[in-house]
Amino acid sequence: MMDDTDLPADDPYAAQREGTERHRKAHGCGAFPFGSGPLLTELVTETGATKLLELGTAIGYTACCLLAGNPKAMLDTVDGDAGHVRLARQALSQQKLGGRARVHHGQFIDMLAKLRGPFDLVFYDGFAPETDVVIGLHDVIRPGGLLICANLNLMGRREYRRLRDEFDDTDRWQPHSLVDEDKAIIMIRV
Ligand SMILES: C[S@@+](CC[C@H](N)C(=O)[O-])C[C@H]1O[C@@H](n2cnc3c(N)ncnc32)[C@H](O)[C@@H]1O
Repeated sequence: MMDDTDLPADDPYAAQREGTERHRKAHGCGAFPFGSGPLLTELVTETGATKLLELGTAIGYTACCLLAGNPKAMLDTVDGDAGHVRLARQALSQQKLGGRARVHHGQFIDMLAKLRGPFDLVFYDGFAPETDVVIGLHDVIRPGGLLICANLNLMGRREYRRLRDEFDDTDRWQPHSLVDEDKAIIMIRV
């Protein structure tokens, strides 16, 4: 089990993270940057994942962190806000990562049916996680692949119970660890 003391201290994309904070305040949107970007980089590196999916691009901070973990990795990333999609495409191309990223505009639940899996690693960072989306993600992650699901702290009690029931199904998922002060969970797709 990891905790915050295991988090890498340096963040090469700290400027993107700060830019996301500035954007959120100016735009009045929910684009809170993930608390542990370097951990995403580390997970991609450690697992050698090459086929990555992100739900919740915002303006590209964590997309950069994910792609930094493996020069061979390709990322599909999805956001429902057209302005975020445009800014994320710009940010990825400024970081010379645009050639390895496809930024899709759409709702998560709709895009799941359109994306071509199986993915080695999925990062789900919308607002409060939706259990129906998590159930759909199971179908697009390869056996042994990872799901990092953020924002557990934003869930209502009933939806949290549904999510727990899904993650407690050991024929479908095995626990890996909790991160970001237990606001995020990492699960292994069985
Ligand atoms: C918390 S922010 C993502 C932060 C980003 N991963 C980062 O760390 O910089 C959540 C993003 O998910 C998008 N989003 C939330 N729910 C969505 C949904 N159901 N379908 C599509 N996009 C959604 C929002 O537009 C927002 O940009």
